Amino acid sequence: MSKSLRYGIIGCGVIGPWHARSVALVDGAELVACCDVIPEKVEKFAAEYGGQTYTDYKKMLAEAKLDIVSICTPSGLHAEMAICAAENGVNVLSEKPLDISDPAMTRMIKTCREKGVKLACIFQRRTSPLWMKVREIVQTGKLGKMVLGDAYLKYYRSPEYYASADWRGTWKLDGGGALMNQGVHCVDLVQWIMGPVKSVTAYAAPLVRKIEVEDTSVAILKYASGAFGVIQGTTSVCPGMNHRLEFHGEFGTLRVEGEKIVELRSSLISDEEKEKILAPDNSEADNIAQDPKAVGIRGHMIQIQDLVNAVNENRDPMVTGEQARSAVDLILAIYKSSQTGREADV
Ligand SMILES: NC(=O)c1ccc[n+]([C@@H]2O[C@H](COP(=O)([O-])OP(=O)(O)OC[C@H]3O[C@@H](n4cnc5c(N)ncnc54)[C@H](O)[C@@H]3O)[C@@H](O)[C@H]2O)c1
Repeated sequence: MSKSLRYGIIGCGVIGPWHARSVALVDGAELVACCDVIPEKVEKFAAEYGGQTYTDYKKMLAEAKLDIVSICTPSGLHAEMAICAAENGVNVLSEKPLDISDPAMTRMIKTCREKGVKLACIFQRRTSPLWMKVREIVQTGKLGKMVLGDAYLKYYRSPEYYASADWRGTWKLDGGGALMNQGVHCVDLVQWIMGPVKSVTAYAAPLVRKIEVEDTSVAILKYASGAFGVIQGTTSVCPGMNHRLEFHGEFGTLRVEGEKIVELRSSLISDEEKEKILAPDNSEADNIAQDPKAVGIRGHMIQIQDLVNAVNENRDPMVTGEQARSAVDLILAIYKSSQTGREADV
């Protein structure tokens, strides 16, 4: 049995507790340190979940002898914190998005590889049996040659949500709006399922909320495979709706609403197999359409257990930095196309 890995968390805000609760539940790790720039936040966090408290993440990474650190801070700080962790020999689990710019992500991935530490990124939906099944159906050709891969991400976030922390809705630290923050999960999924997008044409703007970044965007996609698709992302429709992902091939269609397959038709799938696929499973549903705190914990637990195992087995984690950056690369191309009025390569 391997020793228990020493685990630290930077950022004790909304998502930090998901990491702390997960660490308590996985095998082979123990929360020994936590950090937030706001002393009252980190004290309260440690009182609930344990660990020595820090208000300076550099000090924590230098002194706490950590094996793994979770980075749960505003998105534009992920790379600099990951780089500092790597320089101290600490393996990294970054919250999504990996970071918000191309140079930051490149530096982050390169430093972690050079220093020989693992870099993983939370994309908890990739751990769900539902999305694994959808991916398998599309990638094993069960819908035939793929024609369209679409994501409709029509969420609601209130003005109070954007006022709840000063980094929300800013270019500098959120790096974008409805897509970079809320939509990034499903932007990751469409490419994980359909393969990479090659180029995009898009509009993005703050239509309703008083924020710098977009609260609404529409994008036309050209996949490397030759298929087409669209992504619509917003946080300003009322009420917020379940996300809808639709995959159409020459022989079949698969539609997912929220975390459920609502339509599966294909001449290449037998009725018996369809029934099996459509049988309800026990995967945790959430209600992120309206409420950012409604994320289930199961995916975080699976990814943290996977990273602990990856460190012990010296292998890549299930979502590497290289894989996680592709969602951000696509979103950055959408912003670029919207700003230039031209098609943008991803
Ligand atoms: N996986 C998911 O479903 C999910 C859900 C919510 C948030 N997130 C991601 O998690 C990250 C944090 O989001 P949040 O909603 O928890 O934000 P938040 O504002 O609630 O929490 C961030 C915390 O980081 C602290 N912080 C800021 N700068 C710091 C620094 N230099 N050193 C130490 N602490 C610092 C803040 O004081 C705050 O407590 C974002 O990147 C977001 O995209 C992911």
